[in-house]
Amino acid sequence: MALSFALTHGDVKLRIAKMRDSKSLEKLILGNRAWLRPWEATNPGAPNSFDVRSQLRGLIRQLDDESGMPFVIEVQGVVQGQLNVANILYGSVSSAVIGYWVSPEVAGRGVAPTSVALVTDYLMNQVGLHRVEIDVRPENTASLRVIEKLGFRYEGIKQRYIHINGDWRDHYIFALTAEEVPEGILNRFLRKQVPPQKYPWN
Ligand SMILES: CC(C)(COP(=O)(O)OP(=O)(O)OC[C@H]1O[C@@H](n2cnc3c(N)ncnc32)[C@H](O)[C@@H]1OP(=O)(O)O)[C@@H](O)C(=O)NCCC(=O)NCCS
Repeated sequence: MALSFALTHGDVKLRIAKMRDSKSLEKLILGNRAWLRPWEATNPGAPNSFDVRSQLRGLIRQLDDESGMPFVIEVQGVVQGQLNVANILYGSVSSAVIGYWVSPEVAGRGVAPTSVALVTDYLMNQVGLHRVEIDVRPENTASLRVIEKLGFRYEGIKQRYIHINGDWRDHYIFALTAEEVPEGILNRFLRKQVPPQKYPWN
């Protein structure tokens, strides 16, 4: 599936990653090890690979069977992060999982919540998915703020769920279904109309 389109709001633009993005992504990933390492998925039993090219190739290949969508996040035309849609299931499940990171250079400017909102709206309104899930380590306070800002609903905890930074880590599970956001998630975020949610930490 060749996809070339952009999802934009203000300075933030998301587009499907291409192999030619590997150089700029490699620079960002290798240049920000301390920032990314605590939250990076690792492969149990295998050394951590920094082969960004082959990782990207694997993500782009998911477009072929429509099981995933790798986006790059640009801010003012410069690649500053990634948002990957994974585990896309259609039919009676119609669900997907979103993962994301941005460079410290643009952190704190709402780039991640804007990106998640743009893609969630796209998945629900254009692709026709019913549910979007985000999994976050309880220790990741910055990412939990993204969840809070967008009003993703807490669903529970999966213990030792994903291998991150060298070990199996618990994850909080959050989700939204299409009928919870008829007005669009970006729209209600921008209008500051996100209803307060009950979370384990509040
Ligand atoms: C989590 C992450 C994606 C948030 O992206 P973002 O675009 O900065 O999101 P926001 O602008 O909404 O900021 C979210 C929170 O990050 C924290 N933050 C802001 N600027 C920061 C900075 N310069 N350094 C560290 N944390 C910062 C704040 O707690 C902020 O919440 P606030 O707006 O209530 O103060 C980003 O910090 C990141 O990529 N971290 C490393 C990878 C990662 O954790 N990915 C998510 C895995 S689930």
